[in-house]
Amino acid sequence: MKKGLKKLMALGLVAVLAAGMVGCGKKTDSKKTSENTSKLQEIKDSGKLVVGTSPDYPPFEFLVAGKGSGDIVGADIELAKRIAKEAGVELEIKGMDFDTLIPALTSGQVDIVITGMTPDETRKKSVDFTDIYFKGKNGVIVKSKDVDKIKSEDDLKKLKLGVQKGSTQETYVKDQLKMSDYKALVSVPDLVMDMKNENIDAIILNDKVANINSEKYKGIKVVKNIEFTSGGDEEAMAIAVKKGNNKEFIDMMNNLIKKLNETKEYDKILADAVDLVSKQEEK
Ligand code: ARG
Repeated sequence: MKKGLKKLMALGLVAVLAAGMVGCGKKTDSKKTSENTSKLQEIKDSGKLVVGTSPDYPPFEFLVAGKGSGDIVGADIELAKRIAKEAGVELEIKGMDFDTLIPALTSGQVDIVITGMTPDETRKKSVDFTDIYFKGKNGVIVKSKDVDKIKSEDDLKKLKLGVQKGSTQETYVKDQLKMSDYKALVSVPDLVMDMKNENIDAIILNDKVANINSEKYKGIKVVKNIEFTSGGDEEAMAIAVKKGNNKEFIDMMNNLIKKLNETKEYDKILADAVDLVSKQEEK
């Protein structure tokens, strides 16, 4: 085929694809590709999957000490590795504050967010989610001396509570418990520090993260058998994806999630991550 003709045909194809997009008229981010490129194709073309995460939530994501700075590991990172492998691209993990992750996603700084994120209705307005890869539960940590004082949600209401800023735990405290006098801090270690400094009485967070923190710090204990109502104990986790032309990509990730759950491989990933945390502590 003549070079010129080939070029003309290619142009024609672009025109057809572009015409197909008319009326969908959503503006995409700064990524160099055109609007009709599927998200998965875009990632394949760039050769890299960029994942945003807030590495303060062991065993899901945390920093490993002594391995040089900026090393983020955990069950969510393993999940990210599998996705990158499936897409045949490299993986880049970007550690960020939890409350900046959705903006980073919508502005195209990262391709996906994996950070134990709960697919709630508010977030669904601005981003899409995969299926749930892990049905987590919420827990409560307190100073050891208070552990027997808390039995119910009503007891919680009497305390100065701490939650991660922008988290579903914050939504729970605000909307379900109808509290306004709580403290929302950027990271989980900040919350723990604040509790040690007696500024807050209790922290609501994932129960596995709660266990790990109580093992790490002597003065902290997990409240046992607290009665949660109004769904306060649920903490489902899914992967957040920017809206627009992402169906193929989400389908791919959903298939992977399904496989990892059916084969119980996900349980193994999580157990390994818990082991990795305890190995860290021993150092
Ligand atoms: N599941 C909660 C949420 O979506 C908390 C997630 C916190 N994750 C983290 N890496 N700190 O808001």
